[in-house]
Amino acid sequence: MTYDDNTKRSSWALVTGASGGIGLAYAEELAKNKRSVILVARDEDKLIELSKKLSQQYGVETKAIVTDLSSSQGIQKLISETDELKVDVLINNAGKEESGHFLTLPTEEMLSSIALNCSAPLLLTHHFANKMARQGGGKILFISSIVAFQGVPLIANYAATKSYLLTFAEGIALELESQGVNISIAAPGFTKSNLAPHQNFEDTPFKPLDAEFVARYTLKKLGKQRLIIPGFINKVLFYSGKYLLPRRRNSKSFGKVFSLVLRDKLAITNPAKVKP
Ligand SMILES: NC(=O)c1ccc[n+]([C@@H]2O[C@H](COP(=O)([O-])OP(=O)(O)OC[C@H]3O[C@@H](n4cnc5c(N)ncnc54)[C@H](OP(=O)(O)O)[C@@H]3O)[C@@H](O)[C@H]2O)c1
Repeated sequence: MTYDDNTKRSSWALVTGASGGIGLAYAEELAKNKRSVILVARDEDKLIELSKKLSQQYGVETKAIVTDLSSSQGIQKLISETDELKVDVLINNAGKEESGHFLTLPTEEMLSSIALNCSAPLLLTHHFANKMARQGGGKILFISSIVAFQGVPLIANYAATKSYLLTFAEGIALELESQGVNISIAAPGFTKSNLAPHQNFEDTPFKPLDAEFVARYTLKKLGKQRLIIPGFINKVLFYSGKYLLPRRRNSKSFGKVFSLVLRDKLAITNPAKVKP
């Protein structure tokens, strides 16, 4: 394992968005590796159920914190409820995606994505990285996405939030190295979860990855590799976007992919119907 064995029991790993999808898989993988875990999300029932399961099955300590990370009060609640705890692994995972024609999307929805996907990781990282630096080190993982490397039609705001995470994390990574705080960025592609239930993969060449694979793969590389891209196809997309395709062509290709998987949703949303 890559996480320190000697700190396993005295310190905690904190996973945001642990009630489902990739975050739940991170929590379970950490517990399997005997890490005590702080589980954070809004759905209390799911967090309590997971909390019980992880402590019974893996014999680890768990703590569930029910909070809305898109509000500053929600962030403050998490900070005060972890005040006494030594957190040496932070998984900035909670996120949401809105998709469709930009002109049809409510601006409040896009702003709340920016709050959850960008502001929350910024505030939590500022708080926990300061604590980690004082306590002698720690590891922080940001869950970005393969869509972060170019603009993507139909999910433009979501993709931009993931670009923010990537650029932000790369920047602070170099600042924090000397403080013993190690930063990694995961950039998964399509993964089975509740993020985008309207995506339809039938009759498409895309096979979403299992959340468990994404969690296991990225945790193995946490602290060892800056940018972690799970899955062969996602690596091909990353390298072709970086070295082969002009930026505009790359954005267009991603746009085609999303127009295909979102075809059911797009059939009922038409930008011409938007009121001025
Ligand atoms: N699935 C993919 O294809 C994919 C690909 C690349 C990157 N990602 C990224 O992976 C991360 C996890 O997404 P996922 O696919 O696992 O999605 P998911 O199944 O929808 O899980 C999202 C998690 O975030 C929590 N969450 C949502 N809004 C929240 C809020 N306001 N406050 C606190 N917690 C909140 C949800 O719990 P509650 O509803 O209980 O709050 C849930 O636990 C996201 O950052 C996403 O952008 C996903």
